Amino acid sequence: MSIIKNDFEKMNITKIKNSKNNKKLTVITAYDALFAKLFEDTADMILVGDSLNMSFAGKSDTLSATLEQMIYHTNAVCAGAKSAFVITDMPFGTYINKDQALENAIKVYRETNAAAIKIEGGEDRADIIKHLTSNSIAVMGHIGLMPQYVRSEGGYKVRGKTPQDEEQLIRDAIAVEKAGAFSIVVEGVMSSVAKKITEAVNIPIIGIGAGNVTDGQVLVWSDMLGFFEEFKPKFVRHYMQGALLVKEAVNQYRNDVQDSSFPSKEEEY
Ligand code: KIV
Repeated sequence: MSIIKNDFEKMNITKIKNSKNNKKLTVITAYDALFAKLFEDTADMILVGDSLNMSFAGKSDTLSATLEQMIYHTNAVCAGAKSAFVITDMPFGTYINKDQALENAIKVYRETNAAAIKIEGGEDRADIIKHLTSNSIAVMGHIGLMPQYVRSEGGYKVRGKTPQDEEQLIRDAIAVEKAGAFSIVVEGVMSSVAKKITEAVNIPIIGIGAGNVTDGQVLVWSDMLGFFEEFKPKFVRHYMQGALLVKEAVNQYRNDVQDSSFPSKEEEY
């Protein structure tokens, strides 16, 4: 029996932009074909986030993710979810100037079926985003708490706590929209400020840790399915106890192997 709602429609840039004030967008990360296929008929967009450097590769931050890694995982995701709207995160250090950003974005487009790329940065990166969008690259922005800025910012800090920062974030969103981005991720921002950002632009704002005031939400799959056990950020909701279920299942398998109840007669040739 299918649990997929039949009102689901495949997304493209136009539909994503038109969803502003019409429909909330559901975005989830994926790093491989297996999970991407599971998400394909429910998520409006699948993000191959550089968070894969942490959840998949076990590193402590996203900074060492490489373009080759992102391309490898994007190909896996696109193979599993052939009709999904897939966005690839440009990793740290791959868009430090306009020419390098365009060269690397073209490499992503040539070597994968990604529909768009995502770039962290606001006013400071608007010229780079403009250069990409002027050259037919679809760009999703990412402002607020930006994991690639973790060392320069001295940690992961919730943004929008002062009037000055609120103004900066609104300026960032407007600059990214003006540069031609089709949507913006707003991460780790006070909900009251996320509301003002959402109202300040005409493209969909996808929130994570920014309250329910945005035009959609994005979550890292291993967080929302309860596979990541180290800690649970305040903004994460566990829709499943993934780690527990896996451990219970593998323990059951081990018991069955040990008492020879697996494989059964029906499971042998
Ligand atoms: O890398 C990632 O998964 C992201 C999301 C958290 C938005 O950027």
